[in-house]
Amino acid sequence: MPQAVTIKTLMDMKQKQTRIVTLTAYDYPFARIADEAGVDVLLVGDSLGMVVQGGASTLGVTMDEMIYHTGIVARGAKRALVVGDMPFLSYQVSLSEAVYNAGRFLKESGAAAVKLEGGAAVVDRIKAMTDAGIPVQAHIGLTPQSVHQLGGYRVQRNEERLLLDAEAAESAGAFSVVLEGIPGEIAKSITSALKIPTIGIGAGRDCDGQVLVLHDILGLNAGHVPKFVKQYAALRNDAMQGIESFIREVREGAFPGDEHTY
Ligand code: KIV
Repeated sequence: MPQAVTIKTLMDMKQKQTRIVTLTAYDYPFARIADEAGVDVLLVGDSLGMVVQGGASTLGVTMDEMIYHTGIVARGAKRALVVGDMPFLSYQVSLSEAVYNAGRFLKESGAAAVKLEGGAAVVDRIKAMTDAGIPVQAHIGLTPQSVHQLGGYRVQRNEERLLLDAEAAESAGAFSVVLEGIPGEIAKSITSALKIPTIGIGAGRDCDGQVLVLHDILGLNAGHVPKFVKQYAALRNDAMQGIESFIREVREGAFPGDEHTY
């Protein structure tokens, strides 16, 4: 049985300059595959709302949906650290609701940590959660839950503000910070300023680790592929071909054959 990844493992990886691989997961079969392949962190992202539920943003995802999906991912993860993403309005309204909802991820779904969006604006949340024994990953830069405030999914370039957010999250007790949609040079200086690991998405190569959305790297989505995404497989095509073959064989009476018949 491989040694399970903990938040201490991630800290050691930063010190040894071993890059941390994070991938999103939303269900048991893909959690098992990613875990067996050697992914370090499985993030049950609220990107669920877009890639699994087909929504236009992440805003509609609920706590109960996140708890359900995090639970089935945790069941498939033997080695990877499972992080549950706190959905919109699960931590913004009050400090006590924030701690309660964060705790639900550990208590009800088997996650080992949570992620929330924000830096300086959520330091009280990060501190209260870590004080309650809940490891917290912060997420700064292009924060999709603030899409309407940001005026769209735009690269964030205010270096001073980004550094302030990252340092605030670290001081409040976060074990890691996701840097999304920021120039590579800014991500590089934040990464060297922090003791905790940075995990980049659309933030260049100089972060301590990288995260991408599972459906993006496997080519499961139709349509536009953002600049920061690399597709390592073409599962949508494979699935289409497999399903078309099944349809054809059923129509032609070629399936089931004798070998599939009792
Ligand atoms: O929701 C998500 O999947 C995320 C990652 C892409 C960082 O927040």
